[in-house]
Amino acid sequence: MFFPLKKRLIKAVVGSVFAGLISTTLWAGSAAGAEINRDIRTVPLNDSGDPITLTTKQLAQGQRKFNGSCASCHLDGGTKTNPSVDLSPATLARATPPRNSVSSIVDYLNEPTTYDGLRTLAELHPSTARTDIFPKMRDLTEKDLTAIAGYILVQPKVVGKQWSGGKPNR
Ligand code: HEC
Repeated sequence: MFFPLKKRLIKAVVGSVFAGLISTTLWAGSAAGAEINRDIRTVPLNDSGDPITLTTKQLAQGQRKFNGSCASCHLDGGTKTNPSVDLSPATLARATPPRNSVSSIVDYLNEPTTYDGLRTLAELHPSTARTDIFPKMRDLTEKDLTAIAGYILVQPKVVGKQWSGGKPNR
């Protein structure tokens, strides 16, 4: 059957609006969703209790980089080979030094240490210190690390139990 050009155009427009609606809905399920309010996007910046409010753009960037560089071991905030050292705010808070702030997670990605803080993990955990062993870390800028750290702290507030099995946030 022959459709006049006008009809086909209308079909194309309706189709793309529909696709847009679907992707907006999927988007809303992630930490990068536009509806995530300031309160949820605000997390500790450092141990002194200063706050940082991530932008939705930063969270989208953090999620993308986390999925690319970390999720192979830390899917949904768990830790594949050492499940007790997960990425829940509660577990991060009990590390030495505490890792439940953006700057302390960035510090970990520059100089990772054991959970008790006594030994370096530079040869075992991806970090910017050993890009010779972990070449993927070479592509991450300090801005990327901030975005990833922000995502790690915001995501449990968004998805609850889906992040590290839902350990309490504090
Ligand atoms: C090859 C697997 C692997 C990859 C890739 C990986 N990690 Fe880890 N990560 C681990 C393991 C294992 C531990 C637990 C280390 C230990 O025994 O203390 C850990 C621990 C951590 C901790 C400390 C958690 C706590 O509760 O103290 C943070 C933070 C962390 N990883 C962040 C990241 C980020 C961010 C990325 C991506 C840039 C990443 N990791 C990539 C395996 C990995």
